[in-house]
Amino acid sequence: MELTYFSHSAFQIKTNDGIIILIDPFFTGNPTCPISVEEVKADYIVLTHAHGDHIGDAFTIAKKYKSKFICVNELANYCADKGFEAHNMHIGGGYNFDFGRVKFTIAHHGSKTPDGEYAGEPAGVILTIDGKSVYHTGDTGLFYDMKLIGEMNPIDYMLLPIGDNFTMGIDDAVKAVELANPETAIPIHYNTFPVIEADPMEFKSKVEANGFNCKVMKYGETIEL
Ligand code: NI
Ligand code: MN
Repeated sequence: MELTYFSHSAFQIKTNDGIIILIDPFFTGNPTCPISVEEVKADYIVLTHAHGDHIGDAFTIAKKYKSKFICVNELANYCADKGFEAHNMHIGGGYNFDFGRVKFTIAHHGSKTPDGEYAGEPAGVILTIDGKSVYHTGDTGLFYDMKLIGEMNPIDYMLLPIGDNFTMGIDDAVKAVELANPETAIPIHYNTFPVIEADPMEFKSKVEANGFNCKVMKYGETIEL
């Protein structure tokens, strides 16, 4: 599969079969995103939570491509109420889709839609596709159960926030990598706005000093997993 980073928390996964999954597709109003919403499409859209910088352009894309939402129950119901197709899941549950497996985890954060509706609990998500696993932690503070998550679901790539203020900062994120024990850590949710400025190279050097691998993805970069 291919993993593309659009900046902030937004990623695209393209499976070996060509199925396209977007995670937290925030393009419009994202100052660090190198492409516009017109340049992406999606078969599935995974949302970690409903904040504007995560739900982003999801409805614009889903309307155009009839994308199916995958999210926790309350947020999935919200998408369904807006007329979209959605697969309702919840924290701790996994499901085998045609492209691979999706499992939701806890995340310590909030979740409310831009128009003010309750959207259930925020979440992290583990996608296991084409023999590799990707753990997108969503927006979260550090929590010790990341150790348990990593033990029960061996992680190849861990995508985790380092921007501080709303989520983990660098030092907590370094500890999160140690707990979840992924093959490779990829920093996200930084430098989008002044309040979440952080140096991904500082994160990388601290992660590597701790004995783990780190890849700092450029905005728009695609890597083969
Ligand atoms: Ni958030
Ligand atoms: Mn956020």
